[in-house]
Amino acid sequence: MRVLGLETSCDETAASVIEVTDGRAHALSDVVHSQVRMHALYGGVVPELASRDHLARVLPVVDEALREAKTTVDAIDLFAVTSGPGLVGALLVGVQVGKALAWARQRPVIGVNHLTGHALAIHLSESPPEFPYVALVASGGHTALYEVASSSETRALGHTLDDAAGEAFDKVGKMIGLDYPAGAAIDRLARTGDPARFKFPRALKMRSSLDFSFSGVKTAVLHHLQKHGRPEGPELADLCASFQEAVCDSLVTKTLRAAFATGLQRVVLGGGVAANSRLRALMTERGAKEGLNVYVPALRLCTDNGAMIALAGYHAFSHRGGDLLTLNADAAWRI
Ligand code: KG4
Ligand code: ZN
Repeated sequence: MRVLGLETSCDETAASVIEVTDGRAHALSDVVHSQVRMHALYGGVVPELASRDHLARVLPVVDEALREAKTTVDAIDLFAVTSGPGLVGALLVGVQVGKALAWARQRPVIGVNHLTGHALAIHLSESPPEFPYVALVASGGHTALYEVASSSETRALGHTLDDAAGEAFDKVGKMIGLDYPAGAAIDRLARTGDPARFKFPRALKMRSSLDFSFSGVKTAVLHHLQKHGRPEGPELADLCASFQEAVCDSLVTKTLRAAFATGLQRVVLGGGVAANSRLRALMTERGAKEGLNVYVPALRLCTDNGAMIALAGYHAFSHRGGDLLTLNADAAWRI
């Protein structure tokens, strides 16, 4: 079965064709047009600009995904599109295009939850985990823990009570003069820094809940900067490393706690923050100490892409069939 996946929930216009044979999926193409340069001018995503850019780019991106996969729209068996959560105007672009293609070719369309896409993205890897597993999905807009019981059953275990982890990276980046989005730049700066130099808070660490909070660490960095000014050179590296350590420590601690609470042996990472080198290393190291199998996707599968949407769409379609053409964007869709 060939599935075209379409992703327009935030600031990436992405499309991918995947082929699923005997339950194994692989991407034939994976095209991502990023809007980050445009939004960087404003220090964050401007929703109206995002919608307009998706509108301008979506058809060329779909064409490129079909070309790269050496296929045509007539050979697509299912159109899968992110229908939530995300920016409503941005989502609507993908949903309308997905529905229009499906209607024109008399093929099914299915609306996909963006976070389910991140939680399942690992199945596009060479050696994917078996179900069930705990998934940590940490991105710019969301941070949550899920119990992924099967390809069609995902249950929320906890989520952030305030900022998403990626949002904390982006806001701290802005404070120290980095362009949006700042996660990858902080990751790079932190490499030569001392993570123990400054003690930033780990919120809700002692509580048994599986929720997160990142507004405290962000405010702690702000207070530090107000007191000491913006550091340079090695000081800046230490600040980035210490902030990153606080976020990663919280993410890993809660993920391990989720594994113990559910009795699950497998842990999977997903979302843009899963591209963070310290998070990848710390989760692997502490997971192994606890006897867990930790699965870390390739960088390209962590950040927003159409392949994970195609894959999640395939599984949802196998489970419940397609959606009607009344499918709509659901900006606040919660699992
Ligand atoms: O999943 P994603 O591509 O888009 C959303 O659904 O939000 O995630 C983007 C987020 C941004 O906040 C970005 O700063 C963060 O992921 N990010 C990182 C890294 N690469 C991207 N955060 C920390 N370290 C990284 N290496
Ligand atoms: Zn995402």
